[in-house]
Amino acid sequence: MTTAVLDIYLTEADAEAELRSDARTGLTAIPKVLQPKWFYDATGSEIYEKITQLPEYYPFNAEREILHTNAARIAAASGAETLVELGSGSSEKTRLLLDALADTGTLRRYVPLDVSEAALREAMGALAVDYPQLSIHGIVGDFTRHLGQIPTEGKRMLALLGGTIGNLEPADRAVFLRSIRQQLAAGEQLLLGTGLVIDPGVMVPAYDDAQGVTADFNRNVLRVLNRELGANFDVDAFTHLALWNTEREWIEMRLRATRSMIVHVAELGLDVPFAVGEEMRTETSAKFRRSGVRDELESAGFELTEWWTDSQDRFALSLATAR
Ligand code: SAH
Ligand code: TRP
Repeated sequence: MTTAVLDIYLTEADAEAELRSDARTGLTAIPKVLQPKWFYDATGSEIYEKITQLPEYYPFNAEREILHTNAARIAAASGAETLVELGSGSSEKTRLLLDALADTGTLRRYVPLDVSEAALREAMGALAVDYPQLSIHGIVGDFTRHLGQIPTEGKRMLALLGGTIGNLEPADRAVFLRSIRQQLAAGEQLLLGTGLVIDPGVMVPAYDDAQGVTADFNRNVLRVLNRELGANFDVDAFTHLALWNTEREWIEMRLRATRSMIVHVAELGLDVPFAVGEEMRTETSAKFRRSGVRDELESAGFELTEWWTDSQDRFALSLATAR
């Protein structure tokens, strides 16, 4: 029989307080900037699911190919009893890992953690049906704040898939990787998915698809601000932009104001002026090289033990062991 529990460390009230402070800081900064985690309300998580099915969004299929090809090797190299996943979303690709770890007979529990309670509940419901032997312990939380709430039972492998690590800026990434390392005992593992630096002609369309699904996703953050903070963003007055930053090796997503306007954010008592053509950064998605991943892991106290890529070298999965 499945046992499933859901711990909530990020209540609506916490999230709202944090959104207020982030929005105040970001909307008054020069240039303006918003944090990517606010994309993922219930609608945002649904749009993200659509992104993963787009022909242009190669990272999803590339990572799935790696998992599919190497699941048995990962399971053998891991022997984990507990699979923890940060930013688990729909847990769709994770099934490949759950299956492989179940085959080796070690897996006891799965601990998905996500800021999106809606996505987590849906994923857990589906997994409970398909994995009746598994104990599922969901955590609604922010992986930059709630790592200390992760259960410590059994030998653990912590997975961070989807290239989500690339959505943190380098300095935050270093802090984050170190805090992950602190939660693990020596010998426990990290399975890390990273997009690789490839032809910008392939990378950029993944964040700017022909159907405009990613544009819709990007603009969704404005709908979140309208709903949660009583803002009056005219969502259609912003266009979506994705560009490759050669120097920093990241994709940058922005929203550009197509006219000048003053946006009122009622709950912050804030009037935010936008000039025509003004751009606000909403996300970065860093791409990596093997040496960079290895160095960042080593600085955080991990040893890179395995490195797998898809057949077209677009995405990599690293297995690292806590030293
Ligand atoms: N792992 C899935 C989803 C990746 S999208 C995949 O590979 O397809 C990124 C996920 O991370 C979303 O589900 C989002 O809700 C979650 N997320 C983003 N920022 C987060 C944060 N700070 N803490 C916890 N989860 C976060
Ligand atoms: N972690 C994903 C990535 O960087 C998140 C993502 C994919 C995303 N497509 C997006 C975020 C579009 C914002 C907009 O690839």
